[in-house]
Amino acid sequence: MKKYIDEVQSRRTFAIISHPDAGKTTLTEKLLYYGGAIREAGTVKGRKNSKHALSDWMEIEKQRGISVTSSALEFEYDGYKVNILDTPGHQDFSEDTYRTLTAADSATMLIDAAKGVEAQTKKLFKVCRMRGIPIFTFINKLDRQGRDPFELMEELEELLGIRSYPMNWPIGMGQSFAGIYDRHHKKIELFNPKDPGEIEIKDVSGPDDPIIDEIIGDAGLVSQFREEIELLDVAGDAYSEESIENGTLSPIFFGSAISNFGVQTFLETFLEMAPYPTERQSSKGPIKPIETEAFSGFVFKIQANMNPAHRDRIAFLRITSGTFKRGMSVNHVRLGKPMKISQPTQFLAQNRNIVEEAYAGDIIGLFDPGTFRIGDTLVEGDDFEFAEMPHFSPEHFAAITVKEALKHKSFEKGVKQLTEEGAIQLFQTYNKVIEQQIVGVVGVLQFEVLEYRLKHEYKVDVVLDRIPFSIARWIHGNEKDMDKFKKMQRNLVTDRDGRIVALFENDYQLRTAQDKYPDLAFYENSFTKPI
Ligand code: G4P
Repeated sequence: MKKYIDEVQSRRTFAIISHPDAGKTTLTEKLLYYGGAIREAGTVKGRKNSKHALSDWMEIEKQRGISVTSSALEFEYDGYKVNILDTPGHQDFSEDTYRTLTAADSATMLIDAAKGVEAQTKKLFKVCRMRGIPIFTFINKLDRQGRDPFELMEELEELLGIRSYPMNWPIGMGQSFAGIYDRHHKKIELFNPKDPGEIEIKDVSGPDDPIIDEIIGDAGLVSQFREEIELLDVAGDAYSEESIENGTLSPIFFGSAISNFGVQTFLETFLEMAPYPTERQSSKGPIKPIETEAFSGFVFKIQANMNPAHRDRIAFLRITSGTFKRGMSVNHVRLGKPMKISQPTQFLAQNRNIVEEAYAGDIIGLFDPGTFRIGDTLVEGDDFEFAEMPHFSPEHFAAITVKEALKHKSFEKGVKQLTEEGAIQLFQTYNKVIEQQIVGVVGVLQFEVLEYRLKHEYKVDVVLDRIPFSIARWIHGNEKDMDKFKKMQRNLVTDRDGRIVALFENDYQLRTAQDKYPDLAFYENSFTKPI
C-alpha cells in the first residue's frame, strides 16, 4: 500500500487552458523540456499545423500524428509524475476540449499579458469552475509591453469571478522588464534581455532589501515595485490554501514562456501546490484514489484516425483509482462484459509507448475497435459507474440529411459512431410536423470533419443546412411548467437521451425565455446542476 500511495501522491494531472496564441504550445514545450521529455524546445509538432485553414483538416490529422495535440503528455520532474492534458485551442476547438477538462485535477490558465482574459479562456474556465478544481494562472509575454498587472487581476475577478494571489510580481514590463520578485520564496529572478534563458536568482530578505536597488539599478522601477508590493500586501487577498483548493482563489505567476523566464519557478511551485489525484463521484459514492487500490477509470475522449493508415480509434482513459497492469482483465460496466487490456499506450512528446503499469491520475490510450463511448467506466472487481459525462452547449447547428435515401443505414451508423466519440451532438426536433435531425458542434470545423468522415469512412454524402442558433439550454422544471413550456416554446429539440433542449439564436432570446419562465432552470450543459 505504501508504494501505491507514494505513486498516487507523486502524480499531477492538469490541463492548460487558454485562448489561441497566448503561448500554450510554447509553455508546454518548455515544461516538457524541463522534464527532459524533449531535448530542445521547438521539437513538439503541432504548432504550425494547428494554424492551418479549415479545409486542411485532413492534412492536419495526417501530419500531426502523435504530437502536442495528442490529448495527454507525460513527463517526470523532481520525483513528480506530470500528466498534461491537451485542450486543442485552435480551429479544432470542440466539445472534446471541454470534456478533457473532466479528466484534470487542476488547471493552468494561460493569459497573454497584453490581451487579458479572452473568449476561449472564459469558456474553458467555466468548465473548471463547475468542477471546483484549483486554477493556477500564468500571465505570459512579460518581455513585451502588456497591461498593468493590477488591471489584469481585476479583469480575472470581473470576467471570471475568481480572486487571485500573485505568487510573484513583475518588476517593469516590456522594454523595462527587469525580472520578477518571488513573494513565496523571497527571491529575485533577474531578466537578461540579451540572454533571456540565463536567469540570475538572488535570495532577498523581502521587497525592502537594499540588495534589490543594487541589482535592479533603476531607482524609479524599484520604488514602483515596492509600492505595488505594499499595495498587494495591504489590499490584496490573503494567501489561503483552502480557497486555492476549492478554485475560488487563483495563484498567479508572471513570466515569459518564449524566453524561459519564470517557467521553472512556476513548474516547481505548481507541482508543490497542485493536488494529487482527487476523488470522483460514482454510483457507489466517491472513489478516493488514495484509499482504493482496485483499478477503475473512465473514458473521457475518443480520437479517431490517429494513424491514417488504419481506421483505428484510441479511447483515452483517466485512471481514477488503483494500479493498472498491462494485460489485466477489467469489467466494461456499460456492456457488462469482462475485457483484457493488452496494448495500452502512453504519450511522451512524439512517441507512443506501451504501458506496463500505470496509477491513479495517469492517462492511458486504449485501442478501440468500437467498444467504447465517452463516459464508459472500466473497473476491476466491484461494478460501479462514474458520474455521467456532461454535454456542453454547442455553438453551431445544422439540419442534416442524407443525399441518397438508400444509404440511410450507413448514415445512421456513422452518425451514431461520431456521436459516441463526442465529435458532434445529435438532436431530434420536438413537436414538429416534419421530423428532422439536427447536429450541434462547438467549433465550426467539426462540420467539415463530420462531412469528411461520413464520406470517407461510411461512404455517405450528406447535406448540412446551417441553422442560425448559437445557444442550447437543457431545461429542467416541474411537470406543469415543463408542459406549458413544451407547448408554447418553439425551437425545442431532444438530445440523445431524450432530454428537452431549447435552442436560441442569441443571448437576448435566451434572456426573454428565462424572464417568461422564471421557474424553469436553463442549464448550460446536460448535467442536472447548473454551472
Ligand atoms: P498557442 O499554442 O497558445 O496558440 O500559442 P503559441 O505557443 O503557438 O504562441 C503564439 C505566439 O506567441 C508565437 O509567436 C510564440 O512565439 C509567441 N509567444 C509565446 N510565448 C511568448 C512570450 O513569452 N513572449 C513573446 N513575446 N511571445 C511569445 P508566432 O509569431 O505566432 O510564432 P513563432 O514564429 O514565434 O513560432
